[in-house]
Amino acid sequence: MSYTNILYSVENSICTITINRPDKLNALNKDTIAEVGVAFAAAQKDDQVRGIILTGAGTKAFIAGADISEFSSFNLEQGMALSKHGHDVFDSVENCSKPVIAAVNGFALGGGCELAMACHMRVATENAKFGQPEVKLGLIPGYGGTQRLPQLIGKAKAMELLMTADILDAQEAHRLGLANYVVPADQLMEKCKEILNKIMAQAPVAVAEIVRTVNAHYSKTENGYEVEIARFGACFTTEDFKEGTDAFMNKRKAAFTGK
Ligand code: COA
Repeated sequence: MSYTNILYSVENSICTITINRPDKLNALNKDTIAEVGVAFAAAQKDDQVRGIILTGAGTKAFIAGADISEFSSFNLEQGMALSKHGHDVFDSVENCSKPVIAAVNGFALGGGCELAMACHMRVATENAKFGQPEVKLGLIPGYGGTQRLPQLIGKAKAMELLMTADILDAQEAHRLGLANYVVPADQLMEKCKEILNKIMAQAPVAVAEIVRTVNAHYSKTENGYEVEIARFGACFTTEDFKEGTDAFMNKRKAAFTGK
């Protein structure tokens, strides 16, 4: 698959997906969102891939938002279709069975903050900035931001940020729990890889079940506690479980196969 607006590479079991429109601060136009969807589907399917890093090209922006130039004349139906498309793709990021880390290297505004929040974790550079400034455009977030921001930082602070359009610096994002870590720019990818390598040493099936079960908490149709009971039980049917427990009993390192 060749991409126009993103870069896709796989090295040492880690897939790096880079939004590559630096002259537009990596703003997400429709084609780019579609390519993100294709890239995540490819990474999900590829057995060589065990973890994913999502980042933006250049040093200034992760993603400065949805591409404002593309929707300035939209009507009701077009607005809803734009939002639905974004929801579908961002949901596929959130539900990816492999760990996904957003490497936030600058502005993560609007749709950029929303895409970072759809990832399982966020590592930010010291110059990163997070915010949902849609209200300034007479809009609300349309790619899940009204839902995921309160999940991550709590309702009161989310309400404030959504209504004021205030922008958080990296340290404040970290204090609020939006960023897992803040690191100097030259250590960003290294930190993401360090986290992924720790996860990749664990049982892949259990990691996938963690994504599935934690996300069930936020589902409207599922009860997370019920899902946990079912998925906990399902873990007992896996080779990874047999290997993990056998390795513990025999005081050796587990060699998981993801089956
Ligand atoms: N959509 C479309 N284009 C965007 C964009 C967006 N969300 N964000 C930045 N760009 C473009 C600019 O139009 C500019 O393009 P140009 O050189 O062809 O004029 C280029 O990226 C560089 O941006 P610029 O505004 O010149 O950089 P800056 O350093 O002065 O400001 C920001 C950076 C992030 C503060 C500013 O670009 C901004 O406010 N962007 C919009 C943020 C936003 O509202 N996002 C939510 C959208 S729903």
